Amino acid sequence: MALWAGRFKKELDPRTNDFNSSIRFDARMYRDDISGSIVHAAMLEKQGVISQEDKEAICTGLAEIADDIEKGRLSFDPNAEDVHMFIEAELTARIGDAGKRLHTGRSRNDQVALDIRMYLRREIDEILGQLLELTGVFCDKAEENLETVMPGYTHLQRAQPVTFAHHLMAYVQMFLRDIQRLEQTFWRMNVCPLGSGALAGTTYPLDRAFTAEQLGFDRPSANSLDGVSDRDFCIELASDLSILMMHLSRFSEEVVAWCSWEFKFIELDDAFATGSSIMPQKKNPDITELVRGKTGRVYGDLVTLLTMMKGLPLAYNKDMQEDKEAIFDAVDTVKLCVSTVTPMVKTMRVLKENMRLAAAKGFINATDCADYLVKKGLPFRDAYKITGALVARCIDEGETLETLPLSAYREASGIFEEDVYAAIDLAACVKERKVQGGPAPEAVKAQLAAARAELGKFNEEAE
Ligand code: ARG
Repeated sequence: MALWAGRFKKELDPRTNDFNSSIRFDARMYRDDISGSIVHAAMLEKQGVISQEDKEAICTGLAEIADDIEKGRLSFDPNAEDVHMFIEAELTARIGDAGKRLHTGRSRNDQVALDIRMYLRREIDEILGQLLELTGVFCDKAEENLETVMPGYTHLQRAQPVTFAHHLMAYVQMFLRDIQRLEQTFWRMNVCPLGSGALAGTTYPLDRAFTAEQLGFDRPSANSLDGVSDRDFCIELASDLSILMMHLSRFSEEVVAWCSWEFKFIELDDAFATGSSIMPQKKNPDITELVRGKTGRVYGDLVTLLTMMKGLPLAYNKDMQEDKEAIFDAVDTVKLCVSTVTPMVKTMRVLKENMRLAAAKGFINATDCADYLVKKGLPFRDAYKITGALVARCIDEGETLETLPLSAYREASGIFEEDVYAAIDLAACVKERKVQGGPAPEAVKAQLAAARAELGKFNEEAE
């Protein structure tokens, strides 16, 4: 019999009951539900709303239920409407009337708004921990590759020389922003809706500041209608996670390419690659393809949440029960992806020589050749034209800018002298790009130091 059965003459149709029930997916919030109820009961007693005896029975009963679930002695009843009803009914079955007093001055609407926030706070913390580790691994790999010249690309065409470290540090910047976004989302999420009641607050003298403080919130929510009907924090988190997945997916796409024979820039450790059931030679980067594929799921979760909320009048509507599957899926997917990518990156082998060979082939020092002329007084546009013609000649004659004889250079422009070869040497080209944020080893070292300092700050906050 449902706890709300008083008004009804019939039991709920069984199929409708299943349809209506959220226990399949909200059971995972049981710890948060119980912690919230314990503090609510303590506050009710402090405010003289329930007796000390009832409070003690409630708190002990709830602690026992938590323990029983934890130890597998109590399983969730699939017929329960949701985790809140299940726990309250179980409590009442165990302690009688005191259990029935727990819900005084509270509604499932503020209860569920509380539980999701508490659950997601923990998940954000966990994801932040994982991201800090991932970013640290990227920094370590960058440190090992400060001098590893590789082609930088635009339009996936070899463009200008960079280093593998510089490339990895671009991702470090993305991850640092992901971390920031999650911290800010946490901060906005960290308000306690308890006391909002169903929508219109309550006539009981609740101490909302006490409950908020006891449950680790920064403050109570400011408006009871908003307190129960706000799901911005789920949307914001799904958006943060979508952006994070987009970053992981771009990296994954690069790993897929780098593992191909066409690039062969890296080799994944055998523990992080898979074979084919028919082609014995294959070593596939499945992990990164899955990350790329799962990005679509997380975007889908974001769109689910946005769409679910867009037409809802204030305050609570049952549509909002759909928030959980979407945001839980997004959180689960991200945790799976980050925790798999981290050791994969840690163990991958960087094929430095292949990167250097690719860099030597794509005329990626053509800009440096033009800059050489500019430094000797030619306007850039003229230098650009002369260099373009030289590249065309190289292609015709099967040469590179490094192998083209000085006589050919001088036919194009009398300005060229022997020192052009030093100016277009790949390592020199990279070394000279020492502008702040550039690929020169010393510039990347500075980026690395700044990133590690920022990571250190986040790590301290996390502790
Ligand atoms: N299971 C519900 C949910 O997840 C709890 C809130 C139910 N409130 C209500 N008024 N029916 O949203």
